[in-house]
Amino acid sequence: MVDAAATARGRVLSVASECVPLLKTGGLADVVGALPKALAAQGWDMRVLMPAYRGLLAKLPGAVAVWSGTDVFGGPARVMAGQVDGIAMLLLDAPHLYDRDGGPYTVAGADHGDNPERFAALCWVAAQIARKGLSDGWRPGIVHAHDWQGGLAPAYLRFDPVPDVKTVITIHNIAFQGVAPAARLVSLRLPAHEFHADSLEYYGNISTLKAGLVTADAITTVSPTYAEELMRPVFGMGLQGVIAARAARVHGILNGVDTEVWNPEADPLISGFSARTLVRKAANRTALMAEFGLYDVPGPLAIIVSRLTDQKGIDLIPAVLADFVAAGGALAVLGSGDAQLESAMRTAAARYPGRVGVRIGYDEALSHRMFAGADAVLVPSRFEPCGLTQMYGLRYGALPVVAATGGLADTVITANPMALATGAATGITFHPTDALAFGQALRRLCQIYADQPLWQSVQKQAMKQPVGWETSSTAYAQLYESLIP
Ligand code: ADP
Ligand code: GLC
Repeated sequence: MVDAAATARGRVLSVASECVPLLKTGGLADVVGALPKALAAQGWDMRVLMPAYRGLLAKLPGAVAVWSGTDVFGGPARVMAGQVDGIAMLLLDAPHLYDRDGGPYTVAGADHGDNPERFAALCWVAAQIARKGLSDGWRPGIVHAHDWQGGLAPAYLRFDPVPDVKTVITIHNIAFQGVAPAARLVSLRLPAHEFHADSLEYYGNISTLKAGLVTADAITTVSPTYAEELMRPVFGMGLQGVIAARAARVHGILNGVDTEVWNPEADPLISGFSARTLVRKAANRTALMAEFGLYDVPGPLAIIVSRLTDQKGIDLIPAVLADFVAAGGALAVLGSGDAQLESAMRTAAARYPGRVGVRIGYDEALSHRMFAGADAVLVPSRFEPCGLTQMYGLRYGALPVVAATGGLADTVITANPMALATGAATGITFHPTDALAFGQALRRLCQIYADQPLWQSVQKQAMKQPVGWETSSTAYAQLYESLIP
C-alpha cells in the first residue's frame, strides 16, 4: 500500500478559529473548510487545527488523541484527530478555554475576556506540533494561520525557530486585529524583548494579527484588489505600513466557493435549473416571493444575505428603497448583526409591505432558496476582502449589484455598454459606496431587467463564471512550493 503522507507534495497545518462544517460565523469558515479539500485533491497532506468549542467533539466520532499537554494556558489539553466531510481535522480539547457558554468569540454580546489567551493557546499548540510532531508521526512543513486568531502561530515559530517549518498568514478581514494590553505579554507566553514597533507592539498594545504579519514567511489575502487596498490607510486600518513594508511577500489569491454545495442543477434545497433551463428558475422565484410575503412585481426581485454590520453597507438600504420600489423592484433580506441595522430592516419591511420582506436570523437552507429565486443579489460593502455571496449569485443567475471594492471588484464585470456589447458583463458594480452610486446601480439593474433578452444573456454569462477553487488552490500550492526548501 502506498503511504499517502510519504508521497504527498507537502504537509500543511491550517490554524483557524472556525471551519465548515463544524462551526461557522462567516466566510472564514467556508474558506478554511474548502481550501484543504481542494489542496488535498492536488496531493497535499492537509490538516486543520481549531478549538473544540462546546459540543464539537461529538461531531468528530471516533477521534483519537494525537497530542497532549499538562499546562496549556492554565490547564491540561489534548488534540483529537478525526475526519469530517473529507477534512483531516484536529480539535484542541482544552475545556478550561473552550467548553463554555456563548459563541466562539462572545458571550451575551461581549467578548470572552480571555480571548487573547484562548487563541494564543491554539497557536502555541500549533507551534508545538510543528516542533515535535503528533504521536502518529505527522509533522507539518508549513503552518498556515488565518486571521488574528492564528496570528501568534508564525510568531512563536519565529521567536523560537524551527528551521524546516515555514509559515503563511492569510488576512480574511483586517478590521479584527487581536489587540490585547501589553500587560498580557507574560500570559500570552511572548518574549518581552519583542515588544517594540517592528514586532508585537501596536499603538501601545499587543496585536496578534500584526505579530503574524511581521513574522510569517508569506502573507496572503483573499483577493488581488484587497491586497492592494490593504496598503492604503482607509483599508489597512492602521496596519497599512506593516503590510506595505512586506509588499514583496504579499499575495492576493481570490477565494472560491464550493461548487458542489452551490450547484443550481443539483442543489437538493431548490427546484433545479441551469443556464440552458433558465425558465425553471421561475418556480424558485414564485416560491421565494410567497415565503417572504411579497407581491409579484414587474421589476427585479433582489436579495441580501449578510451579516448586518457597517462593513456591509446595510445602512444604505433605506435610502435607496423608495426609488427601487417605485421602479418595480422587490427586496428580501436575510441577516443578523447590529441591533440598529436589524431594526432598520424591520422598519423597511413595515414601510413597504409586499415589496420588502425581512428575516432576522441565520438560515443556511433559506439562503439557498433565496439565491435560487432571486434576480439580483445586493452587496453594497464599504470594504470586502473577498465576499462569497456575489459568487453564489453568479452561479445561480442572481446578478450581483456590488460596490467596486476588494473581491467584489475582482469577481463582477459591470454591465457598461462595452461589456454588454461584447457579452462579458456579469452584474453591476458601483463606486463609491454611497446611496447615490448605489441608487444609480439599482436603476441600471431595472433598465436591463426590462430588456429580457439582454437580461438573460447577462444571466447566462454570469452562470458560466469559474467561481470554484481550481485556479486559486493552484496558486496556494505554488506559494507553498516556493517556501519549501
Ligand atoms: P463575511 O465573512 O464577511 O460575513 P462572506 O461573503 O465572505 O462575508 O461570507 C458570508 C457567508 O455567510 C456566506 O456563506 C453567506 O451566505 C453566509 N451568511 C451570512 N449571513 C447569513 C445568514 N443570515 N443566513 C445564512 N447564511 C448567511
Ligand atoms: C472575511 C471577509 C470576507 C471574505 C471572508 C473569507 O469574513 O469579510 O470578504 O470573503 O473573510 O475569506
